[in-house]
Order: sequence, then C-alpha cells, then structure tokens
Amino acid sequence: MVGAWPALAESPAAERGRYVFAAGGCHACHTDEAGGGRPLAGGPELTTPFGKFFAPNITPDPAYGIGRWSDAQFLRAMREGIAPDGRLYYPVFPYTAYAKASERDLLDLKAYLSSVQAVSQPSRPHQVAFPFSIRLLVGPWRLLNFERGAWRLDPARDAVWNRGSYLVKALSHCGECHTPRDSLGSLDRGRWMAGARMPGRRSVAPNLTPDASGLADWSEADIVAALAFGTLPQGGVLGEEMGEVVRHGTSKLTHDDRRAIAVYLKSLPPRLNAVAPMTGAR
Ligand code: HEC
Ligand code: HEC
Repeated sequence: MVGAWPALAESPAAERGRYVFAAGGCHACHTDEAGGGRPLAGGPELTTPFGKFFAPNITPDPAYGIGRWSDAQFLRAMREGIAPDGRLYYPVFPYTAYAKASERDLLDLKAYLSSVQAVSQPSRPHQVAFPFSIRLLVGPWRLLNFERGAWRLDPARDAVWNRGSYLVKALSHCGECHTPRDSLGSLDRGRWMAGARMPGRRSVAPNLTPDASGLADWSEADIVAALAFGTLPQGGVLGEEMGEVVRHGTSKLTHDDRRAIAVYLKSLPPRLNAVAPMTGAR
C-alpha cells in the first residue's frame, strides 16, 4: 500500500484500528474499486429507493477528507450521525449500527484512518430526488428509528455470544443488508436477519436465522468457512455484495471472531424467510 518505502511503524492504536476498519466494512462503501478509485477517497454509487448516494472521501486530506476532524467530531459522526457543521447524515451511512460501537474501537479506527494516504479529491454529490433531498427530513426518521447509546452486554450469555452480538450489530452491520425494511427504509426489527432484497439489484441477502428457510442446515463451521473463504457448504462461492464483505471484512477477522459471529447467528430465533420469491422470468 505504501509503495517502495517500508511503512512507518503503525501506532498500536492505528494497528487495532485497522482491524476495526475491516470488521466495520468501511472499504466497500468508501472506495470506488471498480472505478479505479484510490482507497477511501470516495465510493461507488449506492442505489437506494430514495436516490443514489456516494460515500465521501474519508482520507486524512485536510480539504476534501476528514484530516482536520477532532476526535469529538469523529465520534459524533459515527455515533450520532451528525456532521461537524451540524448536517444530519442519511442513514445509508450505517451510523445507526456504528453508534453501538465502543469509544475505544472508534478512536482506534480514527487513528487508522489518519494513517492512510491522503487523497486531495472532492466527494461526489448525492443524486437524491425531492423530498428526500431535504436533509432535515432525516430528523423525523431518526426519532422513529435511531436508538442512541452503546451496545449492551447480555449478562445471561457467555463472552463468545456477546462478542458475536457486538460484531454483528455494531461493527459489521450485517443486519443492514440481511434485515428487510419498510417503505421509509427502516429496518423491520421483528424480522431481524430474516433476509432482504438488495435495493436496485437482483441480489438477495439471504435469511441468516436458523429456520429451515435460512441457515438451519448450516453448522457453525459452515458459517465460519463462509466468512473466512466465501465458500458455501453445498459448493460454490459467495458473490455479489457478500463477496466484498468477505474479501475486505470477515476474511481479515480472527477465527475466534468469525466463530463468535456464527454462535450468535445460531442463537437467533428462527424466522421465516422474509424475501418473497421473485415473480416473472429472470
Ligand atoms: C453502506 C455504505 C457505508 C459504509 C459501510 C460506511 N459508510 Fe461512511 N458514509 C456512507 C455515506 C453514503 C456517507 C454520506 C452520508 C451523508 O452524506 O449523509 C458516509 C459518511 C461518512 C462520514 C462523514 C464524512 C464527511 O465528510 O462528512 C464518515 C466519517 C464515515 N462515513 C466513516 C465511515 C467509517 C469509518 C466506516 C466503517 C466503520 C464507514 N463510514 C462505513 C456510506 C457508508
Ligand atoms: C452489503 C450487504 C451485506 C452485508 C453488510 C452483509 N451481507 Fe451477507 N450477504 C449479502 C448478499 C447479497 C448475500 C448473497 C450472496 C450471493 O448470493 O452470492 C449474502 C450472503 C451471506 C451468507 C450466505 C447465506 C446463504 O444462505 O447462502 C452468509 C452466511 C452471510 N451473508 C453472512 C453475513 C454476515 C455474518 C454479515 C456480517 C458480518 C453479512 N453477511 C453482511 C449481503 C450482505
């Protein structure tokens, strides 16, 4: 990544932050890999029912990136979805999940982001139609959907389950793709992880609950292998958005963390697949 020169030793915080970065899946949205974009200098088009979004430049560039941000500003963006100038972020930036991350993880993450190469390149503006172009409308949406506050440990469960719950809910935001949404784009908590169609795409994020229509037949080891290598128990490999999640995210986690995710998924109440079969010819 750093070319011919040996990298300066990363600070311990930045090194831990690199791991948080992988678990958090930031790369996929903030880097336009297919378009040959530089790392974290701005992402590819994100299609939603409300318009097209482009994740901004989050390199340490002082003008176009977040190089001038204080720790407090970064924490406010990640945990409250509020920009340094007071703008409310659209929830396509999954701060609703990151809000649950620990302060330590988020500050380590910031240390890592400060260590990547700055890219002096403006972010692309979103293409969002009225009325969703009115950022203030995010306000009422937040009142209904945004639960402030950190992730909470469940003392009735063991440490492995709790780690899995933290990764899935806070850092890795698996539910953002695998949980269906209503017409306002709010996650349907009653069908948490029961599967969803990816907006504007043909791909489906399958039901991850242990129902017969979900992962009932998958062992813990099957889930771990899928997250490590992208391989499916019945053969084949994970593609679509999940290919990216594995490549830049779950494949870089420790075996213990992947197992914690599997333990958590196996513990979910079984729910019927929320994805209606596609009608008509494909
Ligand atoms: C699903 C896509 C997605 C993922 C994953 C994602 N982001 Fe973003 N991010 C966005 C979008 C879109 C915006 C712009 C939101 C807006 O303009 O309202 C954004 C905005 C931001 C901002 C505000 C930047 C600014 O200039 O105001 C920061 C900081 C940020 N993201 C950091 C992160 C980090 C760190 C991660 C990983 C832990 C991450 N993002 C993961 C889509 C994403
Ligand atoms: C950006 C959206 C997105 C995110 C985030 C995401 N997934 Fe997925 N996931 C998908 C899609 C799409 C597929 C289907 C891939 C395919 O068909 O090749 C999938 C497939 C899977 C499968 C295979 C299920 C099956 O029945 O074949 C597993 C297991 C899985 N994801 C687990 C996870 C876990 C655990 C996380 C969080 C660490 C996660 N996913 C985060 C979109 C996502």
